[in-house]
Amino acid sequence: MKPKVFVSRLIDREALDMIAKVAGMEVWRDELPPPYEVLLEKVKDVDGLLSLLSDRVDTTLMDAAPKLKVISNLAVGYDNIDITEATKRGIQVGNTPGVLTETTADIAFTLLMAAARRVVEADRHVRKGQWKTWGPMILLGQDIHHATLGIIGLGRIGIEIAKRARGFNMNVLYHDVVRNEEAERQLGVKYISELNELLSTSDFISVHVPLLPGTHHLIGASEFAVMKPTVVFINTSRGQVVDQKALYEALRLGKIFAAGIDVTEVEPISIDDPLLILENVVITPHIASASVHTRKNMALMAAENLLAGLRGEVLPNCVNPEVTQ
Ligand code: GLV
Repeated sequence: MKPKVFVSRLIDREALDMIAKVAGMEVWRDELPPPYEVLLEKVKDVDGLLSLLSDRVDTTLMDAAPKLKVISNLAVGYDNIDITEATKRGIQVGNTPGVLTETTADIAFTLLMAAARRVVEADRHVRKGQWKTWGPMILLGQDIHHATLGIIGLGRIGIEIAKRARGFNMNVLYHDVVRNEEAERQLGVKYISELNELLSTSDFISVHVPLLPGTHHLIGASEFAVMKPTVVFINTSRGQVVDQKALYEALRLGKIFAAGIDVTEVEPISIDDPLLILENVVITPHIASASVHTRKNMALMAAENLLAGLRGEVLPNCVNPEVTQ
């Protein structure tokens, strides 16, 4: 009998075809994710689940899916999944690292430039008919070239940001729990062991850490307080890494110059959220990996993980390899 899988959203056709060849597949085709109660029902007798970061995959869900062998997350991050619980139950969990690294770095740099040079605000200015003349004091932003960029988390994406920054003659600092001396040699980046030192000396700050208990609200009121008032703050990691109320206050009071964020503490952000009233923040709806090419590669990678798990093989990209050892 063919194994059964549930795919929690419409993804690339080629990836779906790969799965359909070997498994009985149900695909959730709505634009919005399946409600949690529906997901519980859908996984009842599946061997594999292809999930998105908007699906909560917790103990209750795993209880509801006694046959589940593999969870393949279409994302590099997997904070939506209880990994400890999956490991306890011998369920392999896969993710999609690597293929989205540069696409994500591109959007972080896009936000950095847009926020620094007030691009979105300037576009609104034009559309509202406010462009009256070439104004010597109008819409002045911050220079990117030759500025100091502080990267928090020099992983795959952080390294790609550093490469982009080099093209702009930026001076690049980084803070991480582990020092990467090879990256220092290759990219000319400088390690700063104290987070506060990086925060207080950078003109741009870009966050690239995973969401873990230790990184929840890593950046809050006291961190914004030590930043330069001219700083441009970028977050493309996870919304919960930043205390969003503190970010709002820092932006509102001019304690920092601007921010560019692709992620928010609650997604989607409420249309009533006060952040949306501020001119000095650019917000994109968690689209960092959203290029045609990258989303296809992510879907193919997620399909490969799923199929390997169904065959009882080690996933090509497994986040809990101890399950199979
Ligand atoms: C997106 O946020 C991802 O983790 O892939």
